[in-house]
Amino acid sequence: MQEQLSSLLAKASQELGATRTRPELESAKARYVGPHGELTALMKRLGSVPKEERPALGRTVNEAKERLQALLDAALARIEDSELAARLGPAIDPTLPSTDPGPGTFHPLTLVREELCRILRKVGFTVADGPEVETEFYCFDALNTPPDHPARDPQDTFYFPQAARFENVSKRRPDERYLLRTHTSSVQVRTMLKGPPPIRIISPGRAYRRDTTDASHSASFHQIECLYVDRGVTVRDLKALLDYLFGALLGPGTKTRFRPHYFGYTEPSFEVDLSARHLPRVNKEWIEIGGCGLVDPEVFSAVGYDPAAWTGYAFGMGIERLAMALYGIDDIRIFYQNDMRFLRQFAGGL
Ligand code: DAH
Repeated sequence: MQEQLSSLLAKASQELGATRTRPELESAKARYVGPHGELTALMKRLGSVPKEERPALGRTVNEAKERLQALLDAALARIEDSELAARLGPAIDPTLPSTDPGPGTFHPLTLVREELCRILRKVGFTVADGPEVETEFYCFDALNTPPDHPARDPQDTFYFPQAARFENVSKRRPDERYLLRTHTSSVQVRTMLKGPPPIRIISPGRAYRRDTTDASHSASFHQIECLYVDRGVTVRDLKALLDYLFGALLGPGTKTRFRPHYFGYTEPSFEVDLSARHLPRVNKEWIEIGGCGLVDPEVFSAVGYDPAAWTGYAFGMGIERLAMALYGIDDIRIFYQNDMRFLRQFAGGL
């Protein structure tokens, strides 16, 4: 039996060394260790061996079994390696110089974002930052947006499961949920909680909504937020800033218009439309570009500012919308497709 075992192992080693595919491996496996396999048959014969020889022989059979398993494992590993190599294709040398030595270019959304920041920095705003994963407090509660407000509906907002943990974003209340921010307005709250007025910040960044993607909607998009807190701030200051901003971004013929609206965090609140006859797709139509208003006293109370002493304005607008107006783009989806034919058109900058 000893001899049979070692010749079986020698045969298996040769055969398994030559298997190249999973079906070959499966059939070899069946031939050796399957119910009718050769090793299985030898093991069955152990019972008929004289009692004294059985322990030693048993050990040898077990060793053979282990050796065989190791051979099977090695064959499988080799097959997996070659499957992976086939998927990866021919080897490349990543240290070789690129065949496309040209410099990269900025994405149109980056160009518009940077231009907005440049224009607003000129009049004293600095850029503030906030996380895209937010808590209900920063995104809604502190912005005077009650739990039954439609913006908080799970149909509109991406919530994380209660068990989710984000080490870099702390909750104010243990029972509040994490979510993907639905607007950049949460940065208003974060900024005000960091220090006393006066405040003059802008905050560009990504926001998320449960929107079905179409030519003008995307579940993830970009906004720029602005917050100004000081004494004696009026709607006139807000309108003047927006007139300046759009004039500088889109050209002197640009007009802005306010329409009364409701936002929990501003009072009064407006939607902002702009008209720019000189731009190809805007013509003389009014297009809605964002929301704004005077900071609601409730928001000041939520962050510990004295609402009797402080006033302010805020606005938020979509960067895609602005870029679409500026460049005459009619489908938001093209921003995210990384089609070089589209992106190359912005190689010259704004
Ligand atoms: N957060 C609003 C939105 O996403 C836009 C907005 C409205 C921002 C009014 C503001 C504001 O700062 O004051 O639709």
